[in-house]
Amino acid sequence: MNPAKLLLNTLLFFQFSQISTSIDTISLSQPIKDGDVIVSSRKIYALGFFSPGNSVKRYVGIWYNQISQLTLLWVANRNNPINDTSGVLSVNIQGNLVLHERNQSTVPVWQANISEASAGNTVAQLLDTGNLVLVRNDTGETLWQSFDHPTDTVLPNMRFGWDKRTGLNRYVTAWKSPDDPGSGNFSFTLDLAGFPQPLLYKDDVKLWRAGPWTGQRFSGTPEMTRTFIFNITYIDNQDEVYLCDGLNDLSTIARMILNETGFLQRFTWNNRDRRWIGYWTAPAERCDYYGHCGPNSNCNLNLTDGFECTCLPGFEPKYPKEWFLRDGSGGCKRKQGTSTCQKGEGFIKLERMKLPDTSVAANVDMNLGLKACEEKCLSNCSCVAYASASAETNRGIGCLMYHGDLNDTRKYTNAGQDLFVRANAAELAAEALNNSKSNRARKRRLALIIVAIVLGVILLGLCFFFLRRRLATRIGERKRQRRRELLFLNSSTRFSEREASISTKGNKEIRKVDVTFFELSTLLAATDNFSTSNKLGQGGFGPVYKGKLSNGQEIAVKRLSTTSGQGIEELKNEVLLIAKLQHRNLVKLLGCCLEEDENMLIYEFMPNKSLDYFIFDESRKQLLDWKKRFDIILGIARGVLYLHQDSRLRIIHRDLKASNILLDEKMNPRISDFGTARVFGGEEILAITKRVVGTYGYMSPEYALDGVFSTKSDVFSFGVILLEIITGKKNTRIFNDDDSSNLIKYVS
Ligand SMILES: *[C@@H]1O[C@H](CO)[C@@H](O)[C@H](O)[C@H]1NC(C)=O
Ligand SMILES: *[C@@H]1O[C@H](CO)[C@@H](O)[C@H](O)[C@H]1NC(C)=O
Ligand SMILES: *[C@@H]1O[C@H](CO)[C@@H](O)[C@H](O)[C@H]1NC(C)=O
Ligand SMILES: *[C@@H]1O[C@H](CO)[C@@H](O)[C@H](O)[C@H]1NC(C)=O
Ligand SMILES: *[C@@H]1O[C@H](CO)[C@@H](O)[C@H](O)[C@H]1NC(C)=O
Ligand SMILES: *[C@@H]1O[C@H](CO)[C@@H](O)[C@H](O)[C@H]1NC(C)=O
Ligand SMILES: *[C@@H]1O[C@H](CO)[C@@H](O)[C@H](O)[C@H]1NC(C)=O
Ligand SMILES: *[C@@H]1O[C@H](CO)[C@@H](O)[C@H](O)[C@H]1NC(C)=O
Ligand SMILES: *[C@@H]1O[C@H](CO)[C@@H](O)[C@H](O)[C@H]1NC(C)=O
Ligand SMILES: *[C@@H]1O[C@H](CO)[C@@H](O)[C@H](O)[C@H]1NC(C)=O
Ligand SMILES: *[C@@H]1O[C@H](CO)[C@@H](O)[C@H](O)[C@H]1NC(C)=O
Repeated sequence: MNPAKLLLNTLLFFQFSQISTSIDTISLSQPIKDGDVIVSSRKIYALGFFSPGNSVKRYVGIWYNQISQLTLLWVANRNNPINDTSGVLSVNIQGNLVLHERNQSTVPVWQANISEASAGNTVAQLLDTGNLVLVRNDTGETLWQSFDHPTDTVLPNMRFGWDKRTGLNRYVTAWKSPDDPGSGNFSFTLDLAGFPQPLLYKDDVKLWRAGPWTGQRFSGTPEMTRTFIFNITYIDNQDEVYLCDGLNDLSTIARMILNETGFLQRFTWNNRDRRWIGYWTAPAERCDYYGHCGPNSNCNLNLTDGFECTCLPGFEPKYPKEWFLRDGSGGCKRKQGTSTCQKGEGFIKLERMKLPDTSVAANVDMNLGLKACEEKCLSNCSCVAYASASAETNRGIGCLMYHGDLNDTRKYTNAGQDLFVRANAAELAAEALNNSKSNRARKRRLALIIVAIVLGVILLGLCFFFLRRRLATRIGERKRQRRRELLFLNSSTRFSEREASISTKGNKEIRKVDVTFFELSTLLAATDNFSTSNKLGQGGFGPVYKGKLSNGQEIAVKRLSTTSGQGIEELKNEVLLIAKLQHRNLVKLLGCCLEEDENMLIYEFMPNKSLDYFIFDESRKQLLDWKKRFDIILGIARGVLYLHQDSRLRIIHRDLKASNILLDEKMNPRISDFGTARVFGGEEILAITKRVVGTYGYMSPEYALDGVFSTKSDVFSFGVILLEIITGKKNTRIFNDDDSSNLIKYVS
């Protein structure tokens, strides 16, 4: 913006309008006295006389024109207040901007210093940046500006720092108090010593350090970076070193102030709430205070033991007693008996650090990369640490080396940069050990996390699996149930179709049969996958296996051969019948299994096998004395009687034989194998079948020859068994010493 042009415009405006209520200039002919105010052209800023707080003294200052709450940005005569309202601010004959009290001829209370040489016709103008400029009205040259002499406020677009050519330093000094804008004890300045860094001082004591510029921000202000509001620029060349907050959003009203109690604060104006919003302040934490932990120590607020100071690698507390009492300000000294510049030295990397103070004994080589920096530092015995001087730019070029104490460092939790501290071989080894330890710990943590995740996934998977399985099982169960129902329904109907001998009553009862269905998997487990070692024998319809359920119960599993269609009929029959029958001389059916292509019957396990096993064996028959044989005969008779008379159904077994009489652990006989049994109606006593089943030798002649069977058929068989038990000889055995072809003939 060309001030001269602006001025011209303004003058033209005045000529035409002839009104001068709102002007933004002060000139020889247009001084302002106490009570007058000039306002920048877009009416953002105002300049005039004011009295701060409770003071009655008069000052000339600049404030926000549209913000009702008086917010001073700049004060001209901060250290020389006017005692009354007689002040006049004017441009004098020499072209200087002067502030007088009452008498114009006396020494001015305040004046803008301009060199005599550049004097001429000048005009002072308040710009919309908040800058008060004194310009020559002919050339437009700026002779003086308030931005070069800030008080306590840094405004956007103001250059904070040095003009090396003129030695001008633009820095801020806090007010003494809210009532006194005079220069207070706190100041904030860009310190050029060593490698430039903004420093907050109380008098000449360092209070807070922003740290060196690292490419995007200052090392100690991780949160102050380019944002959508600010376009921060940092210039460091042979003419100038300065920081400048550019505004990306020009409607933003923002300022940074060093307040009376020594805190830097950044504010933006919130127009809706009509108040200033403070969004940053420094120093903020203990570790921010300069040298809170003394030289060669590190300030880390995130230490578990609550004491934030730790010595840097290779250092130990300088004052152990104070250190023990948690006063870290004494700092650390190099460990006893160690010195730098020996063989095997290297660097220990400290992460997320604020770079140490660069004002003393630090130098920078902006042409070296990090690797070269390390080499250079290692080769110079006085170099104790190095870091990248522009860690945040892509190039990363710039080498910062420290040669003295490492003062005022701290660790951030999620900001900062790497600092490489020189260490001897022993330190390096310890560090490597620690690293591997922590690596191991990290790995272990990682492993734990991975395991946890995997477990979680597995758990989820299992949940899913089981849900699905339950669903599948339920569906499968339904399928199986359906199969069972079909099976039994069919068989029942077939019963009634084929064998007219089944009463409807019996049929109904049969249909409601209550059988335990075993899972195939259970039986597989119980019989060891039907291993041959568990095979008890081979029945007519398939092999029988011994098994043991998970609850310890022993079972016998009759596995009907899948090829035998006949077998399935027998199974149905047996299940339907035996499930309804309960007698101590009948073998007990535990359940069945109808899964996939398997059809199985599950019985109580009979440890003593069957009758034929004993009575036809020369040695084993000795075990059966007459008392036992009698008991067995009695038992069989009771069982048959039950089948024929005492059970709710009248049942003809049709296949009574020694091998179908099983013996339990007490040698009690148990009639088994009801596959061929027939149910008779209550009154029926006789039936004829075309399909004669049973075992020759035990069959009654009329059944064997004509298919006529009744309870008497079973009695015949029982008689045969009786003879066999008494004689210990098989009925069908050929007797050599006689013509008789069987036992019956032999006996008769
Ligand atoms: C204002 O008054 C004080 C005493 O009240 C005096 O010391 C000072 O010189 C006066 N300032 C001016 C500019 O007259
Ligand atoms: C201003 O001061 C001068 C000398 O100090 C004196 O002669 C003159 O009368 C004063 N004028 C006013 C208006 O007080
Ligand atoms: C102007 O210069 C004088 C003397 O060199 C100095 O005392 C005064 O503080 C300066 N004023 C400003 C506003 O810089
Ligand atoms: C500058 O100001 C002086 C005195 O006020 C006036 O005589 C002169 O014409 C002005 N020059 C320009 C270029 O405005
Ligand atoms: C400034 O420092 C001086 C002496 O160091 C002290 O007397 C004065 O109270 C301090 N002022 C403030 C505002 O802290
Ligand atoms: C930021 O400021 C620099 C220098 O002041 C300027 O060159 C650049 O264009 C600005 N960027 C934006 C986005 O305003
Ligand atoms: C200065 O800033 C600090 C930190 O924001 C604040 O606590 C303190 O009240 C401020 N002092 C004044 C006088 O505004
Ligand atoms: C310590 O670190 C954790 C995470 O690493 C963070 O949440 C916490 O705020 C930190 N505490 C301090 C005092 O910095
Ligand atoms: C080591 O660095 C310091 C500081 O830069 C320098 O004064 C000294 O000459 C260097 N020593 C060697 C041996 O290069
Ligand atoms: C570090 O601080 C100590 C005391 O605080 C001071 O004597 C020393 O000069 C400082 N060194 C550097 C390199 O800043
Ligand atoms: C290694 O870890 C232990 C305990 O965590 C600590 O006391 C020691 O100072 C560490 N050593 C180094 C070289 O970091």
